[in-house]
Amino acid sequence: MSKFQALTVSQVTNETRDTIAVTFAVPAELQEVFRYTQGQHLTLRADIDGEDVRRSYSICSAVQDNTLRVAIKRTPGGVFSNWANAELRAGAVIDVMPPMGHFNVALSPLQGKNYLAFAAGSGITPMLSIIKTTLMTEPDSNFTLIYGNRSSSSVIFREELSDLKDRYLGRFKLVYIMSRELQDIALFNGRINKEKCESLIADWIALDDIDQVFICGPEQMMHDVSEVLQTKGMAKEKIKIELFAASVPKRAHVAGTQTRAGSQDCDVTLIIDGAHLTFKMEKDTESVLDAALKQGIDMRYSCKSGVCSTCRCKVVEGKVDMDANYALEDYEIAGGFALSCQSFPVSDNVVIDFDH
Ligand SMILES: Cc1cc2nc3c(=O)[nH]c(=O)nc-3n(C[C@H](O)[C@H](O)[C@H](O)COP(=O)(O)OP(=O)(O)OC[C@H]3O[C@@H](n4cnc5c(N)ncnc54)[C@H](O)[C@@H]3O)c2cc1C
Ligand code: FES
Repeated sequence: MSKFQALTVSQVTNETRDTIAVTFAVPAELQEVFRYTQGQHLTLRADIDGEDVRRSYSICSAVQDNTLRVAIKRTPGGVFSNWANAELRAGAVIDVMPPMGHFNVALSPLQGKNYLAFAAGSGITPMLSIIKTTLMTEPDSNFTLIYGNRSSSSVIFREELSDLKDRYLGRFKLVYIMSRELQDIALFNGRINKEKCESLIADWIALDDIDQVFICGPEQMMHDVSEVLQTKGMAKEKIKIELFAASVPKRAHVAGTQTRAGSQDCDVTLIIDGAHLTFKMEKDTESVLDAALKQGIDMRYSCKSGVCSTCRCKVVEGKVDMDANYALEDYEIAGGFALSCQSFPVSDNVVIDFDH
């Protein structure tokens, strides 16, 4: 069910001092499996010092590029990103899960829209895929990117963005916000925070004309920007957020305080690749994902923190309590979707579908 595929790395380039771009060779028989939509991500898995380590990385290539490429920025003290930057070379073989994620909107060559994106640091990765794909697919659409960095030397994809500006003159607007390098226009110095966002909207962005916003970067920046946009009247549904959250803490589950109805145990049925797998677990004490892994079931997961949505599933019968959710949108929750790594059964039986 986790469906990892061993892919060969065809190229590794240094984008900045602490970021590599990694391209995978996808054999003909896996082309369909690795077909992706702009803004999706891959889960990579490696054995690092005897541990199975999995992390998500956004695809940075455009759908039309016919290339599968991600960028990995070193996180200080981080296990996978430092291993990858030090060890990954052309010719290496690594386990890769097929593309996932919903950080995108439907595109059509018949529509002309105004898109706005806020990115900081490695948050540029999905944006590059989204911007390139959108500008290529929709000849009448425009894209504005506000991209926060410390200085020019830390800008990931600087050359590629510059090429895009030349190629889509008048359709692609790029504004760099630098926190440690002075630029001529004072508004472009500093960090992307509430005040900066308000000033940009006052002086640079005609918010009423914007059809869709994408935000990806540090958690605080995303909350600040989203809040300001909504305060200025932008509908929440028009704002898409992708959290990388390397630092989201793993929280211990706190069981519900109400007396549990029925028995202490829950009969669990998981629908995976058409098969119905059943087991019993104690209610409200362990996540469905952890309980299933203990049963030896090959589950799909990566962060186990409610961030990456790799473990997304649909509760079709019974009830689960969900702890952290940084990945699912309101309409998905309303539609019964859940994250199995954060789902604790509270009814006598649950049926959970992973094939949706
Ligand atoms: C959907 C999605 C897309 C993503 N896309 C990208 C991308 O395109 N590019 C990219 O670079 N990243 C991306 N990420 C982030 C990426 O998945 C990793 O989280 C990131 O590379 C850090 O992983 P790591 O193993 O290096 O760090 P980890 O080992 O997971 O550590 C992360 C941080 O936690 C700290 N830490 C670790 N263990 C402890 C501990 N026990 N106590 C206290 N602190 C601790 C570390 O010092 C570090 O600062 C994405 C994440 C998601 C969810
Ligand atoms: S494994 Fe990442 S959200 Fe569950």
